[in-house]
Amino acid sequence: MTFMAYERPVRAAFVGLGRIYDLNVRAYLNNPEVEVVALVDPSEERRAQRQADWPQARTFASAAELAASGLGVDAVEALLPIPLHADGVVEMLGYGWHVNLQKPMCNDLASARHMLAAADANGRVLRVMENYVFYEPLRKLKAVVESGELGDVSGYHMKMVASGRGGWDVPASSYEWQFQQMRRGRGVLVFDDGWHKLSTAVWLFGPIREVRAWVGHTEVVPGIAVDAPTTIAWEHDTGVRGVWDITLAVDMYLRSDYYTNDERWEVTGRRGYARVNRCTGRGIQQPSLEVYADGELRAYHALDDDWASSFRDSGLHWLRWLRGSDEPLLWSGEEAVNVLRFALAAYTSSESGGVGIDPATIA
Ligand SMILES: NC(=O)c1ccc[n+]([C@@H]2O[C@H](COP(=O)([O-])OP(=O)(O)OC[C@H]3O[C@@H](n4cnc5c(N)ncnc54)[C@H](O)[C@@H]3O)[C@@H](O)[C@H]2O)c1
Repeated sequence: MTFMAYERPVRAAFVGLGRIYDLNVRAYLNNPEVEVVALVDPSEERRAQRQADWPQARTFASAAELAASGLGVDAVEALLPIPLHADGVVEMLGYGWHVNLQKPMCNDLASARHMLAAADANGRVLRVMENYVFYEPLRKLKAVVESGELGDVSGYHMKMVASGRGGWDVPASSYEWQFQQMRRGRGVLVFDDGWHKLSTAVWLFGPIREVRAWVGHTEVVPGIAVDAPTTIAWEHDTGVRGVWDITLAVDMYLRSDYYTNDERWEVTGRRGYARVNRCTGRGIQQPSLEVYADGELRAYHALDDDWASSFRDSGLHWLRWLRGSDEPLLWSGEEAVNVLRFALAAYTSSESGGVGIDPATIA
């Protein structure tokens, strides 16, 4: 595909105006490089609410209505419920729009192939946005690892405690499609939030050759189980091993402006370690990044550690890319398939009693 960068502001549409719009919109506000021309959502209430941000934009109940209107659109911010990702993206690429899709890409490899084929067939770009790799403490962690100050890396550890109290409100309608996902074996912790965690591993340490997993479940209300406790371990092609553990703390209050995820990332090298102490929620009240080496602990006090900033920066990256920046997309559709394979390998391993699975062998 030959992509022609835009020499004028990008004409953009938001498709899906729910909870996460509040953060994805940050790249678009006060940005002269983009013009938001359309807002799409079947909910009249959502359209009216978001119109206040973009009084000049036209509103539509569906992408098909927008396409039929003849309004010129270059790129869409696709913020749809996960069960609609595959068909929705294929439809929008078919209208000739570039697509910046919220993660996870889709539930299975067949859908992913269908989406990539639609991008090819229509000569349009599919990006699967990953905001965590734009979170400044994690970017700084990567820089510390690459600087060599920790020595050769020997291990990577992520921890996530999902708490049930605190944070912002999530609409009941979001839970409906999340429950649908859980019933399909694509739980909110391992698959939805997990997409971010697995992405950071691929981003930091490259391709993965083996995954071992033990996906658990806990009934939180009668008939509804979430996918914790879970432990996933893996080995990168470089030999670096990683582990991610997910624990549920249903009654724990976590102060958060967003979701109640208490998260940490730790890279251990031969000479020291570096740890990101929090991300989505305001868990540990220490500087968001600490680096220990040679008997000294250094703390970063001035990083932009508001989780929302990672959405802004991911979106700005996309809009700059459309305007001709030659930085990597983070992620292209093809790269996102590697993250999907990683997740699917974890499920296959868990279903087989925790044996090692090479993500490349997932059919
Ligand atoms: N990056 C992150 O950390 C993060 C966090 C939360 C959600 N997400 C992802 O963002 C996406 C949306 O999640 P959300 O929490 O905003 O969900 P949500 O349920 O709050 O919003 C989805 C919106 O899509 C609308 N919608 C439904 N069908 C539609 C259609 N055919 N066309 C247009 N709009 C339609 C709904 O009316 C709703 O307003 C999901 O992929 C989710 O996984 C990512």
